[in-house]
Amino acid sequence: MNALPVPKPPRLQRAVRRAVSPALFDFWATRFNPLWTLEQPMARLLSRTPAGRDAVTLVLRPNRHWRGMLPGQHVNVGVEIEGRRLVRSYSPTPLDDGTLAITVKAMPGGLVSGHLASKARIGDVVTLGQAFGEMTLAAPRDDLLLLAAGSGITPMRALVRSLAAQGMPVKVDLMYWARQRDELCFVDELQALAAAHPRLRVRTLLTRDESHPDERIDAITLTSVDDLASRRVLACGPGGFVQAARARLEGGVARFDAEAFSAPALVDGEEGEVQVLLARSGRTLTLARGQSLLEGLEAQGLRPAHGCRMGICNTCVCGRESGTVRHTLTGAHNGEPSTQVRLCVSAPSTDLVLDL
Ligand code: FES
Repeated sequence: MNALPVPKPPRLQRAVRRAVSPALFDFWATRFNPLWTLEQPMARLLSRTPAGRDAVTLVLRPNRHWRGMLPGQHVNVGVEIEGRRLVRSYSPTPLDDGTLAITVKAMPGGLVSGHLASKARIGDVVTLGQAFGEMTLAAPRDDLLLLAAGSGITPMRALVRSLAAQGMPVKVDLMYWARQRDELCFVDELQALAAAHPRLRVRTLLTRDESHPDERIDAITLTSVDDLASRRVLACGPGGFVQAARARLEGGVARFDAEAFSAPALVDGEEGEVQVLLARSGRTLTLARGQSLLEGLEAQGLRPAHGCRMGICNTCVCGRESGTVRHTLTGAHNGEPSTQVRLCVSAPSTDLVLDL
């Protein structure tokens, strides 16, 4: 990826790093230029264009501290709203000129999405995390079935563009669900790619179409996908969509990978409450077994660091000194002492001591 030049030679940078903490340097340097950081990747907002109902596409130019990404990965984007830095994960499309295109749907009550969709000004600077996520395709060998719902289309678009740039080396069926037609994003682009590449087939499905609603992933017929059993499946969408796709296909295809962008529904949810001791502050909280630790702590007014809220960026990880947690997606329990937990995909099963 191209990156913005930052006017600090490496030797000076090393000297600065020895003299002051990166946080202190950033505090003062960004008073002069918001992109002058010692280590923190930042990006400037270059443009914003409509991309479907309540959705916009932002183009961002990162500074040189950002290490780039593979199509299909995610990044955490941080904005400051009323004095608080809030972070959310998005799956950008890397563009040829070194910029990133991020499509943001304004969610009801969503502070970050609402800010990015309508309030952030061209020229504003946001923080960027380094890219994360395993849903990438280095050298695809198996034919693919890509399943996207809602904003889950954004990593799929990046993957399809990347495959098109490689001449579409394998067969690709992309199935893209939205509630209604005006919520679909990138359709013209995806259909143009399908017209140019006979191995790519794109199918859009509308679950709330007034005249002819389409079936959801758990009920739809998949006979149109050739050799389904030999396909690698990638799925991205809300937690319920990903769970349904997994239940439908995992074990019946060559490989199944998925990422959910909302908290998955609890499997085998447990009832009742537990006591959670926060070791650093000495506070004891009563949290429900039926929700993730992140949600439970937020409901008590705490603000644990977090990014993706889906168990892949590791921003919310914290030490667990004792007690058992349950993985919210798989239902698996983990009671091994002195290990780390990801708050967003862990629900308390017993009383806990957390290193918070
Ligand atoms: S917020 Fe990303 S892993 Fe929990």
